[in-house]
Amino acid sequence: MKGFSVVLSLFLAVAVVVAFSVPATAADHNYIGVKGCKMCHNAPDKGAQFKAWEASKHAKAYATLASPQAKEVGKAKGIANPQEAKECLKCHVTGYGLDASRFEATYTKEEGISCESCHGAGKDYKQVNIMKDLAKAKEAGLIIPDEKTCTKCHNSESPTFKSFNYQEMHKKIAHPNPQKAKK
Ligand code: HEC
Ligand code: HEC
Ligand code: HEC
Ligand code: HEC
Repeated sequence: MKGFSVVLSLFLAVAVVVAFSVPATAADHNYIGVKGCKMCHNAPDKGAQFKAWEASKHAKAYATLASPQAKEVGKAKGIANPQEAKECLKCHVTGYGLDASRFEATYTKEEGISCESCHGAGKDYKQVNIMKDLAKAKEAGLIIPDEKTCTKCHNSESPTFKSFNYQEMHKKIAHPNPQKAKK
């Protein structure tokens, strides 16, 4: 009888572990960095999303934290080096504060606010067969961003914030695929 209850409790322990580890929650996907998107999203006839991002201020969000203006902003808050301060990095790099295990070796913080800041961590949706199926891609972590995605960072907690108009700001970073009839 004793042997049986040991086996039973072992079985229950395993069942509990399995129940809590599968399926992975949205938060479990890993970050791969922009190169992992560039390989498929830089063709001019499909909108060259990588090029558009590279030309945007988001690509410089980490570098900006070393500018004289950033140092001034930091100084006013008693921060010596904004590039090392969580008060600044939380909105100026992708995935700040997450466990190191969530970042693949191809990720670098120097990429600033990259694709995955808005579209979600890409390791599990980047495969072409998943990418071509929007429902599957979303299940694997792809986010189609909207205004709420932006206002996580574009809000009055930003020391240089003035205002945020979604239509206007979206125009400045837009990277549509011209082959898709506009919805
Ligand atoms: C292996 C190639 C490949 C990789 C790598 C890849 N994609 Fe895609 N992606 C596609 C294809 C194919 C589509 C389908 C539409 C198209 O042809 O552009 C797509 C569609 C998308 C869409 C539009 C979804 C929709 O239907 O509105 C987004 C957003 C997107 N990808 C983001 C990303 C991001 C961010 C990364 C990097 C983390 C990435 N992709 C990596 C091939 C890829
Ligand atoms: C809540 C998110 C958030 C935090 C926290 C944050 N920033 Fe920013 N930062 C932004 C956003 C969004 C922008 C672009 C629009 C704006 O100015 O609000 C920006 C822009 C900037 C700019 C460029 C301003 C310009 O006019 O070109 C500097 C410099 C800057 N931030 C420095 C800092 C420093 C230094 C810290 C830490 C003390 C910090 N930020 C913390 C979100 C944030
Ligand atoms: C994870 C944080 C974050 C998210 C999410 C985010 N941004 Fe930003 N954004 C920033 C930071 C930081 C800057 C400033 C970068 C710099 O100047 O170096 C910025 C700058 C910009 C700029 C340039 C500012 C200007 O006045 O020209 C535009 C435009 C912009 N963002 C639009 C958007 C839109 C639209 C969205 C949502 C679809 C969005 N952002 C989502 C952090 C974010
Ligand atoms: C600041 C946030 C932000 C960043 C950074 C960003 N995107 Fe997007 N992306 C958006 C928004 C917003 C849309 C439009 C969503 C919609 O259809 O309403 C979009 C749409 C797309 C689409 C679909 C285009 C279409 O017309 O079907 C693709 C593909 C895409 N992004 C890929 C990328 C890739 C690759 C990167 C990095 C190189 C990237 N995005 C960086 C916010 C962002």
